[in-house]
Amino acid sequence: MYHDFNYEATLESSLRAQWQLDEVLRDDQSLDFTRNMMPESLARAALLDQLNPFEQRTLNQISAHQYLSIFGIVEEFILPFLLDHARPHLLGDDWRVRAILNFASEEAKHIHLFKRFHTAFVRDFPVECRVIGPSEDIGAEVLKHDPLAVGLVILMIEWMTQQHYLGSIRDDGDLDPLFKSLMRHHWMEEAQHAKLDTLIVDALAKGRTEEQIDKAIDEFFEIGGFLDDGLRQQAHFNLEALERAIGRKVEGGAELIAQQHQAARWTYIGSGMVHERFKTTLEEMSPRAAARIAEAAPMFA
Ligand SMILES: [Fe+2]
Ligand SMILES: [Fe+2]
Repeated sequence: MYHDFNYEATLESSLRAQWQLDEVLRDDQSLDFTRNMMPESLARAALLDQLNPFEQRTLNQISAHQYLSIFGIVEEFILPFLLDHARPHLLGDDWRVRAILNFASEEAKHIHLFKRFHTAFVRDFPVECRVIGPSEDIGAEVLKHDPLAVGLVILMIEWMTQQHYLGSIRDDGDLDPLFKSLMRHHWMEEAQHAKLDTLIVDALAKGRTEEQIDKAIDEFFEIGGFLDDGLRQQAHFNLEALERAIGRKVEGGAELIAQQHQAARWTYIGSGMVHERFKTTLEEMSPRAAARIAEAAPMFA
């Protein structure tokens, strides 16, 4: 076995790591709009020299708004996926059902968490930021695919939050403390989810032929391409919001969109694709699958 994850121990760690929404953000708290919210390793707004420092910070905050919205969207398809996976095991007497239901309930709580931050954001940000969606349609499109492909996308997302948290503590000491705390609390629970999702992926891949796995990887790329199109559209919306917020047209808008789209590719796809644990799961499932995904990874760097 390439890992020592099991349902009972992971459930136990999950229950120990659990937190309540009010510990992260109470309804009466406000985000600090005098600071950045996203780690710059993810937002990459400070690299844009056509923007002054205030404008770079505004774009960083729009990128934080995107973060809240994108995670809201992905949590919404993770939840039904988990319930579907739990359903066939309801008669089992092992720890699997409890662990997966707890996982699902934490993701439902994360939907509330991201919504709460979103409410605090729009309350104090001067302009409206448009978001791709609706999330139900995005979720329905993703869930149309082979459960193994969906499971791999979710596994990639679970591991990437670890990268986000590390970014938030490593590269910016001056982030809004509430946003930093969001990343830390999300990571605490996601670290356990990633273990459970590894077990789910193992179970879904078991007994498949190389050809069937190959087909699932095709679908993994289809989902990736679909999400990537959404991120490109979102980069357009973000530029619109920036121009409204700073009250001027930005020169080099097309380059800015391309640069911000690439930043989002790294944040929401690439940083999970290259995660060592994700790569190990792929390698164990099929070296060919691992090689195909490694080959695509530089596009999302
Ligand atoms: Fe989550
Ligand atoms: Fe999760």
